[in-house]
Amino acid sequence: MHTTVGILGGGPAGLLLARLLHLAGIDSVVLENRTRAYVEQRQRAGILEQTTVETLRAAGAGERMDREGLVHHGIDLRFDGRSHRIGFPELTGGRSVVLYAQTEVVKDLVALHLAEGGPLLFEAEAHAVDGADTDRPAVRYTHQGREQTLTCDYVVGCDGFHGVVRNAIPEHLRRTYERTYPYSWLGVLADAPPVHDELVYAHSGRGFALASMRSPVVSRCYLQVPDATHLDDWPDGRIWDELDARLAADGSRPLHRGPITARSVLPMRSHVTEPMHWGRVFLAGDAAHIVPPTGAKGLNLAVADVLVLARALTERYATGSAELLDAYSATCLKRVWRAEHFSWFMTTTLHSEVGQSPFDTRLQLSQLDRIATSPHAAAELAHNYVGLPVGLPGESPSR
Ligand code: FAD
Ligand code: DHB
Repeated sequence: MHTTVGILGGGPAGLLLARLLHLAGIDSVVLENRTRAYVEQRQRAGILEQTTVETLRAAGAGERMDREGLVHHGIDLRFDGRSHRIGFPELTGGRSVVLYAQTEVVKDLVALHLAEGGPLLFEAEAHAVDGADTDRPAVRYTHQGREQTLTCDYVVGCDGFHGVVRNAIPEHLRRTYERTYPYSWLGVLADAPPVHDELVYAHSGRGFALASMRSPVVSRCYLQVPDATHLDDWPDGRIWDELDARLAADGSRPLHRGPITARSVLPMRSHVTEPMHWGRVFLAGDAAHIVPPTGAKGLNLAVADVLVLARALTERYATGSAELLDAYSATCLKRVWRAEHFSWFMTTTLHSEVGQSPFDTRLQLSQLDRIATSPHAAAELAHNYVGLPVGLPGESPSR
């Protein structure tokens, strides 16, 4: 089989890329190693930056998001027993975010692609990319028990952090930058109305907590926990008690409790692979970079990479120019490193390490107080949260 663009991975990055290329008249094949049900139910991110929202709309995948997504104009920062609202539109020239779960984005893109797009193969496991530096790279994969080969003009690795496409870049040319954090998140989904109409990010002496939501009747909450935490140690009552203790602030209410329907422990990690392009192979999304989830950047970074890449491939086939493709890695990495910094900043400012010194805690509280009281500091947080420029040609770089 031959295709113009071989896309490995059917997460948000791969599915959106396939959709944008389809709209530009460029064919692709998507290989996804999991089942459709699995990718549609994998609980992950929830916050969409405005550019992500606009991209999904322009791709024809915005109808349900516009109906069911919840527009959020700010967040609540809690620390030292007090609550401070950071309002986005007034600090960012009118920008906001939308709460619409990654599971729903994936369902919408899968349905669209199966109805209108090219091949999207589930349970198709890619093993390797050969000839990345030739004009006919080939993907070796297994589908329905048979080893097969897909030849392509270009191959894009949208295969996440554990993917294989990264290995197509020769080891001596590949640089990785990594940081791990000495704590994890316990994430839960509960049939209970959210405690607040915006997200609450809480710094507390007991560790970090985040109260998010999936709908007016479903809560999504996270607690900082030690690495290697066992879910058995966290029955429902303990989770609710801990959320209440960490989220408490002057005038706040206890959470509405309800049955917890899903729970998992997520490690926290920062990682960047450079370059994101070699020969005819490109990396997009988690395949190239991971951020700790505290700033809600992971999914949005994946969408931004794909936007830049789709524009570059469209230009390549419309005019023959590979200029934008050649600039892809540098264009994306500028934004990626900014998001790496913001995610690290949010994580290290809001979490407490075991044995953290009182000095470090005072620094965190001082920084949070600065954000709560200085419009300049609040604006910097707000601009990063609603999303920085993607790096498209002609886009204003100064947001
Ligand atoms: P992925 O969604 O990982 O998609 C990669 C796809 O490639 C997967 O479907 C995988 O099955 C497939 N694949 C892998 N290897 C192969 C192969 N060899 N052959 C074929 N297919 C392959 N971000 C936030 O902002 N907030 C959050 O709360 C949050 N929670 C998260 C929780 C978890 C457990 C994880 C892992 C991530 C979380 N993220 C969160 C990050 C966010 O979900 C990701 O940044 C986003 O999914 C990136 O999309 P992607 O398409 O690049 O990668
Ligand atoms: C969600 C996750 C995040 O990491 C975050 O910063 C905000 C919201 C969520 O899953 O809703």
